[in-house]
Amino acid sequence: MSTWYLLGAGNMGLLAAYYLLQAGFPVTLLRRDTASPLRRRLTFADGRPSYDLILPVLSPAALTEPPRHLIVACKAPYSATALGQVPLTADTQVLRLQNGLGSLDGLLPEGVLPIEVVTTSAVKQDGPEQHQVVAENETWMGGGDAAPDWFEQLSAHWPNLSWPTDFQHRQWHKLVANAVINPLTALHDVPNGRLLEDRELQRQAAELCREADQLFTALDPTWPGDSLPRVMAVASATAGNTSSMRADVRKGARTEIDAINGYLLRRAAAQGLSLPAHERIVAAMTSET
Ligand SMILES: NC(=O)c1ccc[n+]([C@@H]2O[C@H](COP(=O)([O-])OP(=O)(O)OC[C@H]3O[C@@H](n4cnc5c(N)ncnc54)[C@H](OP(=O)(O)O)[C@@H]3O)[C@@H](O)[C@H]2O)c1
Repeated sequence: MSTWYLLGAGNMGLLAAYYLLQAGFPVTLLRRDTASPLRRRLTFADGRPSYDLILPVLSPAALTEPPRHLIVACKAPYSATALGQVPLTADTQVLRLQNGLGSLDGLLPEGVLPIEVVTTSAVKQDGPEQHQVVAENETWMGGGDAAPDWFEQLSAHWPNLSWPTDFQHRQWHKLVANAVINPLTALHDVPNGRLLEDRELQRQAAELCREADQLFTALDPTWPGDSLPRVMAVASATAGNTSSMRADVRKGARTEIDAINGYLLRRAAAQGLSLPAHERIVAAMTSET
Protein backbone atom coordinates (compact mmCIF):
# COMPACT_ATOMS: atom_id res chain seq x y z
CA MET A 1 0.00 0.00 0.00
CA SER A 2 1.55 3.33 -0.98
CA THR A 3 2.59 5.76 1.74
CA TRP A 4 0.65 8.96 2.48
CA TYR A 5 3.00 11.87 3.06
CA LEU A 6 1.95 14.67 5.41
CA LEU A 7 2.99 18.33 5.34
CA GLY A 8 1.97 20.00 8.59
CA ALA A 9 1.69 17.85 11.72
CA GLY A 10 -0.50 20.25 13.66
CA ASN A 11 -4.09 19.87 14.81
CA MET A 12 -5.72 18.83 11.55
CA GLY A 13 -2.75 17.00 10.06
CA LEU A 14 -2.51 14.77 13.12
CA LEU A 15 -6.25 14.02 13.03
CA ALA A 16 -6.02 13.04 9.35
CA ALA A 17 -2.94 10.90 10.08
CA TYR A 18 -4.82 9.15 12.88
CA TYR A 19 -7.77 8.25 10.63
CA LEU A 20 -5.43 7.12 7.83
CA LEU A 21 -3.51 4.85 10.22
CA GLN A 22 -6.82 3.45 11.54
CA ALA A 23 -7.75 2.68 7.94
CA GLY A 24 -4.45 0.83 7.43
CA PHE A 25 -2.60 3.42 5.30
CA PRO A 26 1.04 4.13 6.22
CA VAL A 27 1.73 7.81 6.97
CA THR A 28 5.11 9.58 6.91
CA LEU A 29 5.67 13.18 7.95
CA LEU A 30 7.72 15.37 5.60
CA ARG A 31 9.87 17.77 7.60
CA ARG A 32 13.25 19.27 6.98
CA ASP A 33 14.38 19.93 10.51
CA THR A 34 14.30 16.51 12.19
CA ALA A 35 14.98 12.87 11.44
CA SER A 36 13.51 11.31 14.58
CA PRO A 37 9.94 9.98 14.59
CA LEU A 38 7.26 12.43 15.68
CA ARG A 39 5.39 11.42 18.84
CA ARG A 40 2.13 13.16 19.69
CA ARG A 41 -0.74 12.20 21.98
CA LEU A 42 -4.30 12.65 20.72
CA THR A 43 -6.96 13.00 23.41
CA PHE A 44 -10.69 12.89 22.72
CA ALA A 45 -13.26 15.20 24.31
CA ASP A 46 -15.85 12.39 24.13
CA GLY A 47 -13.89 10.36 26.70
CA ARG A 48 -12.37 7.76 24.36
CA PRO A 49 -8.92 6.57 25.47
CA SER A 50 -6.05 8.72 24.22
CA TYR A 51 -3.97 7.53 21.29
CA ASP A 52 -0.19 7.86 20.91
CA LEU A 53 0.67 8.70 17.34
CA ILE A 54 4.16 7.85 16.13
CA LEU A 55 4.96 9.06 12.64
CA PRO A 56 8.21 8.34 10.77
CA VAL A 57 9.81 11.55 9.51
CA LEU A 58 11.57 12.10 6.20
CA SER A 59 13.19 15.18 4.76
CA PRO A 60 11.56 16.10 1.42
CA ALA A 61 15.06 16.07 -0.11
CA ALA A 62 15.39 12.39 0.86
CA LEU A 63 12.35 11.23 -1.13
CA THR A 64 13.50 8.75 -3.74
CA GLU A 65 10.39 9.27 -5.86
CA PRO A 66 7.52 11.80 -5.92
CA PRO A 67 4.77 11.01 -3.42
CA ARG A 68 1.68 9.29 -4.77
CA HIS A 69 -0.45 10.77 -1.95
CA LEU A 70 0.30 14.07 -0.21
CA ILE A 71 -1.74 15.88 2.44
CA VAL A 72 -1.13 19.61 2.85
CA ALA A 73 -2.28 20.55 6.35
CA CYS A 74 -0.10 23.51 7.25
CA LYS A 75 -1.76 26.92 7.62
CA ALA A 76 -2.38 28.51 4.22
CA PRO A 77 0.38 31.20 4.30
CA TYR A 78 3.06 28.52 4.75
CA SER A 79 2.00 26.40 1.77
CA ALA A 80 4.66 27.62 -0.66
CA THR A 81 7.48 27.06 1.85
CA ALA A 82 6.14 23.65 2.85
CA LEU A 83 5.75 22.45 -0.75
CA GLY A 84 9.02 24.04 -1.88
CA GLN A 85 11.25 20.97 -1.69
CA VAL A 86 8.68 18.26 -2.39
CA PRO A 87 9.00 16.67 -5.84
CA LEU A 88 5.55 16.44 -7.42
CA THR A 89 4.34 14.98 -10.69
CA ALA A 90 1.02 14.99 -12.52
CA ASP A 91 0.29 11.64 -10.79
CA THR A 92 0.54 13.02 -7.24
CA GLN A 93 -2.83 13.15 -5.50
CA VAL A 94 -2.78 16.21 -3.26
CA LEU A 95 -5.32 16.59 -0.43
CA ARG A 96 -5.69 20.23 0.64
CA LEU A 97 -6.77 20.17 4.30
CA GLN A 98 -6.85 23.92 4.89
CA ASN A 99 -9.37 26.67 5.43
CA GLY A 100 -9.84 29.24 2.68
CA LEU A 101 -9.50 28.48 -1.00
CA GLY A 102 -6.86 28.74 -3.70
CA SER A 103 -3.88 28.47 -1.33
CA LEU A 104 -2.14 25.94 -3.59
CA ASP A 105 -2.84 27.83 -6.82
CA GLY A 106 0.37 28.03 -8.84
CA LEU A 107 2.21 25.65 -6.48
CA LEU A 108 1.25 22.31 -8.08
CA PRO A 109 2.32 20.81 -11.42
CA GLU A 110 0.33 21.90 -14.47
CA GLY A 111 -3.07 20.20 -14.54
CA VAL A 112 -2.99 18.92 -10.94
CA LEU A 113 -6.00 20.06 -8.95
CA PRO A 114 -6.02 19.24 -5.25
CA ILE A 115 -8.73 17.13 -3.68
CA GLU A 116 -10.35 19.65 -1.36
CA VAL A 117 -11.11 18.69 2.26
CA VAL A 118 -13.61 20.79 4.21
CA THR A 119 -14.19 19.91 7.82
CA THR A 120 -16.30 21.22 10.65
CA SER A 121 -14.37 19.07 13.12
CA ALA A 122 -12.22 20.83 15.68
CA VAL A 123 -8.86 19.99 17.23
CA LYS A 124 -6.77 22.13 19.58
CA GLN A 125 -3.34 21.81 21.09
CA ASP A 126 -3.57 21.26 24.82
CA GLY A 127 0.04 20.55 25.72
CA PRO A 128 3.52 20.69 24.18
CA GLU A 129 3.07 17.28 22.49
CA GLN A 130 -0.66 16.77 22.94
CA HIS A 131 -3.71 17.68 20.87
CA GLN A 132 -7.36 17.37 21.86
CA VAL A 133 -9.98 16.28 19.35
CA VAL A 134 -12.77 18.59 20.48
CA ALA A 135 -15.43 17.59 17.93
CA GLU A 136 -15.67 15.09 15.09
CA ASN A 137 -18.33 16.69 12.93
CA GLU A 138 -18.80 16.51 9.18
CA THR A 139 -15.93 16.31 6.72
CA TRP A 140 -16.53 16.65 2.98
CA MET A 141 -14.11 15.85 0.19
CA GLY A 142 -14.51 16.92 -3.41
CA GLY A 143 -12.98 18.75 -6.29
CA GLY A 144 -12.69 15.78 -8.63
CA ASP A 145 -15.36 13.99 -10.62
CA ALA A 146 -15.56 10.83 -8.57
CA ALA A 147 -14.27 9.61 -5.24
CA PRO A 148 -10.78 8.02 -5.58
CA ASP A 149 -10.25 4.29 -5.04
CA TRP A 150 -8.99 4.74 -1.44
CA PHE A 151 -12.03 6.80 -0.36
CA GLU A 152 -14.28 3.93 0.76
CA GLN A 153 -11.59 2.37 2.96
CA LEU A 154 -10.79 5.74 4.54
CA SER A 155 -14.41 6.73 5.11
CA ALA A 156 -14.94 3.54 7.13
CA HIS A 157 -12.50 5.00 9.70
CA TRP A 158 -13.00 8.78 9.33
CA PRO A 159 -16.26 9.63 11.13
CA ASN A 160 -18.86 11.53 9.06
CA LEU A 161 -16.65 11.69 5.96
CA SER A 162 -18.52 11.97 2.66
CA TRP A 163 -18.01 12.88 -1.00
CA PRO A 164 -21.16 14.98 -1.56
CA THR A 165 -22.49 15.99 -4.98
CA ASP A 166 -23.10 19.55 -3.73
CA PHE A 167 -19.53 19.85 -2.46
CA GLN A 168 -18.92 23.32 -3.91
CA HIS A 169 -21.86 24.90 -2.11
CA ARG A 170 -20.75 23.33 1.18
CA GLN A 171 -17.21 24.61 0.63
CA TRP A 172 -18.50 28.12 -0.13
CA HIS A 173 -20.76 28.11 2.97
CA LYS A 174 -17.72 27.27 5.11
CA LEU A 175 -15.68 29.96 3.33
CA VAL A 176 -18.31 32.64 4.03
CA ALA A 177 -18.53 31.63 7.70
CA ASN A 178 -14.74 31.94 7.94
CA ALA A 179 -14.72 35.22 5.99
CA VAL A 180 -17.17 36.81 8.44
CA ILE A 181 -16.45 35.26 11.84
CA ASN A 182 -12.66 35.09 11.64
CA PRO A 183 -11.68 38.68 10.80
CA LEU A 184 -14.46 40.32 12.87
CA THR A 185 -13.56 38.34 15.99
CA ALA A 186 -9.84 38.85 15.35
CA LEU A 187 -10.10 42.63 14.87
CA HIS A 188 -12.34 43.10 17.90
CA ASP A 189 -10.61 40.40 20.01
CA VAL A 190 -13.91 38.76 20.97
CA PRO A 191 -15.30 35.20 21.06
CA ASN A 192 -17.48 34.10 18.14
CA GLY A 193 -20.74 34.60 20.07
CA ARG A 194 -20.22 38.38 20.26
CA LEU A 195 -21.48 38.59 16.68
CA LEU A 196 -24.94 37.76 18.03
CA GLU A 197 -24.87 40.49 20.68
CA ASP A 198 -23.13 43.51 19.16
CA ARG A 199 -25.21 45.58 16.70
CA GLU A 200 -22.20 47.06 14.88
CA LEU A 201 -20.68 43.59 14.39
CA GLN A 202 -24.08 42.36 13.16
CA ARG A 203 -24.19 45.19 10.62
CA GLN A 204 -20.71 44.36 9.36
CA ALA A 205 -21.51 40.64 9.24
CA ALA A 206 -24.62 41.39 7.15
CA GLU A 207 -22.59 43.50 4.70
CA LEU A 208 -19.90 40.83 4.34
CA CYS A 209 -22.55 38.16 3.78
CA ARG A 210 -24.43 40.25 1.22
CA GLU A 211 -21.26 40.80 -0.82
CA ALA A 212 -20.27 37.12 -0.67
CA ASP A 213 -23.79 36.15 -1.80
CA GLN A 214 -23.56 38.63 -4.68
CA LEU A 215 -20.30 37.03 -5.85
CA PHE A 216 -21.45 33.42 -5.49
CA THR A 217 -24.77 34.14 -7.23
CA ALA A 218 -22.80 35.62 -10.14
CA LEU A 219 -20.66 32.47 -10.26
CA ASP A 220 -23.56 30.05 -9.76
CA PRO A 221 -27.20 31.15 -10.11
CA THR A 222 -28.29 28.18 -7.96
CA TRP A 223 -26.42 29.60 -4.93
CA PRO A 224 -29.09 29.97 -2.18
CA GLY A 225 -27.90 33.45 -1.11
CA ASP A 226 -28.82 32.94 2.54
CA SER A 227 -25.39 33.38 4.11
CA LEU A 228 -26.32 35.67 7.01
CA PRO A 229 -28.58 33.23 8.93
CA ARG A 230 -26.13 30.40 8.22
CA VAL A 231 -23.15 32.38 9.51
CA MET A 232 -25.08 33.47 12.59
CA ALA A 233 -26.00 29.81 13.26
CA VAL A 234 -22.28 28.93 13.19
CA ALA A 235 -21.48 31.87 15.51
CA SER A 236 -24.20 30.65 17.86
CA ALA A 237 -23.03 27.01 17.81
CA THR A 238 -19.44 28.12 18.51
CA ALA A 239 -20.32 31.08 20.75
CA GLY A 240 -17.66 30.47 23.40
CA ASN A 241 -14.86 29.67 20.91
CA THR A 242 -11.88 31.74 19.88
CA SER A 243 -11.63 31.76 16.09
CA SER A 244 -8.35 30.60 14.58
CA MET A 245 -7.70 34.10 13.17
CA ARG A 246 -8.19 35.71 16.59
CA ALA A 247 -5.79 33.11 18.03
CA ASP A 248 -3.23 33.82 15.29
CA VAL A 249 -3.40 37.60 15.88
CA ARG A 250 -2.97 37.08 19.61
CA LYS A 251 0.13 34.91 18.96
CA GLY A 252 1.53 37.40 16.45
CA ALA A 253 1.34 34.66 13.77
CA ARG A 254 0.42 35.17 10.11
CA THR A 255 -3.31 34.77 9.52
CA GLU A 256 -5.20 33.01 6.72
CA ILE A 257 -6.91 36.26 5.60
CA ASP A 258 -5.45 36.05 2.08
CA ALA A 259 -6.83 32.53 1.50
CA ILE A 260 -10.25 33.51 2.90
CA ASN A 261 -11.33 37.12 2.18
CA GLY A 262 -8.44 37.61 -0.25
CA TYR A 263 -9.74 34.67 -2.29
CA LEU A 264 -13.20 36.29 -2.46
CA LEU A 265 -11.63 39.53 -3.70
CA ARG A 266 -9.67 37.73 -6.44
CA ARG A 267 -12.76 35.84 -7.65
CA ALA A 268 -14.79 39.06 -7.57
CA ALA A 269 -12.16 40.99 -9.55
CA ALA A 270 -12.24 38.29 -12.24
CA GLN A 271 -16.02 38.86 -12.48
CA GLY A 272 -15.66 42.65 -12.60
CA LEU A 273 -17.26 42.95 -9.14
CA SER A 274 -16.05 44.93 -6.18
CA LEU A 275 -16.59 43.83 -2.57
CA PRO A 276 -15.85 46.97 -0.52
CA ALA A 277 -16.59 45.48 2.91
CA HIS A 278 -14.18 42.59 2.23
CA GLU A 279 -11.59 45.05 0.89
CA ARG A 280 -11.87 47.09 4.09
CA ILE A 281 -11.55 44.06 6.34
CA VAL A 282 -8.52 42.70 4.46
CA ALA A 283 -6.88 46.14 4.77
CA ALA A 284 -7.71 46.29 8.49
CA MET A 285 -6.32 42.79 9.08
CA THR A 286 -3.19 43.57 7.07
CA SER A 287 -2.44 46.64 9.18
CA GLU A 288 -3.18 44.60 12.33
CA THR A 289 -0.45 42.00 11.70
N1 LIG B 1 -7.71 23.16 14.15
C1 LIG B 1 -8.95 23.04 13.71
O1 LIG B 1 -9.85 22.69 14.46
C2 LIG B 1 -9.28 23.32 12.25
C3 LIG B 1 -10.59 23.09 11.82
C4 LIG B 1 -10.91 23.28 10.46
C5 LIG B 1 -9.93 23.71 9.59
N2 LIG B 1 -8.66 23.95 10.05
C6 LIG B 1 -7.65 24.40 9.07
O2 LIG B 1 -6.65 23.38 8.95
C7 LIG B 1 -5.41 23.99 8.59
C8 LIG B 1 -4.36 23.57 9.60
O3 LIG B 1 -4.74 24.13 10.86
P1 LIG B 1 -4.20 23.57 12.23
O4 LIG B 1 -5.10 24.02 13.31
O5 LIG B 1 -3.90 22.10 12.09
O6 LIG B 1 -2.81 24.38 12.31
P2 LIG B 1 -1.56 24.07 13.24
O7 LIG B 1 -1.97 23.28 14.43
O8 LIG B 1 -0.85 25.36 13.41
O9 LIG B 1 -0.68 23.10 12.34
C9 LIG B 1 0.01 23.52 11.22
C10 LIG B 1 1.27 22.68 11.14
O10 LIG B 1 1.97 23.04 9.95
C11 LIG B 1 3.34 23.01 10.26
N3 LIG B 1 4.11 23.80 9.31
C12 LIG B 1 4.21 25.15 9.20
N4 LIG B 1 5.06 25.48 8.21
C13 LIG B 1 5.50 24.32 7.68
C14 LIG B 1 6.41 24.01 6.65
N5 LIG B 1 7.02 24.98 5.94
N6 LIG B 1 6.64 22.70 6.36
C15 LIG B 1 6.03 21.74 7.05
N7 LIG B 1 5.15 21.97 8.06
C16 LIG B 1 4.90 23.25 8.37
C17 LIG B 1 3.43 23.56 11.67
O11 LIG B 1 4.64 23.15 12.25
P3 LIG B 1 5.22 23.95 13.52
O12 LIG B 1 4.26 23.71 14.62
O13 LIG B 1 6.54 23.28 13.71
O14 LIG B 1 5.30 25.38 13.10
C18 LIG B 1 2.22 22.90 12.32
O15 LIG B 1 2.57 21.64 12.85
C19 LIG B 1 -5.65 25.50 8.58
O16 LIG B 1 -5.92 25.93 7.27
C20 LIG B 1 -6.89 25.66 9.45
O17 LIG B 1 -7.62 26.83 9.13
C21 LIG B 1 -8.31 23.76 11.35
